[in-house]
Amino acid sequence: MTTAKADLSEFEQKLVDKAVEAMERAYCKYSNFKVGAALVCEDGEIIIGANHENASYGATICAERSAVVTALTKGHRKFKMIAIATELEEPCSPCGICRQFLIEFGDYKVILGSSTSDQIIETTTYGLLPYAFTPKSLDDHEKETEERHHQSETKNGH
Ligand code: THU
Repeated sequence: MTTAKADLSEFEQKLVDKAVEAMERAYCKYSNFKVGAALVCEDGEIIIGANHENASYGATICAERSAVVTALTKGHRKFKMIAIATELEEPCSPCGICRQFLIEFGDYKVILGSSTSDQIIETTTYGLLPYAFTPKSLDDHEKETEERHHQSETKNGH
């Protein structure tokens, strides 16, 4: 959903401000494209992240993953919300790898904002990555394999 910053709750507006502030931590001398993220953990702690580039371009880490890995290293495993900001007036969407990384930890709110406009896109991790491959896919696979094994044992009279 596309909306304006003023339509967000006070907390969400402040979270977007934190994502914008986090952009200043970016190490992006190759692209000059600053990205900031502010991740709200289950206990309310807010962890920021920024994109950090590398002379070997492929080694770059995006702001979203930077926030999540910092949170994970601090022991967090559940998240309530993330705000992400760039300088683009129209809010910019996370890359595919970051969408996969974010959804690993469930369905939670994603607010895309801008440091140069009041435009906002409100979505969720599932909204960004429908039909996602998630930990549930692996859990379901294990369960179904076990069930099939059990069924064939019953059929064969074991
Ligand atoms: N970038 C992010 O930080 N997040 C994304 O989801 C998309 C791209 C960064 C990586 C790189 O430093 C710069 O933006 C240009 O691709």
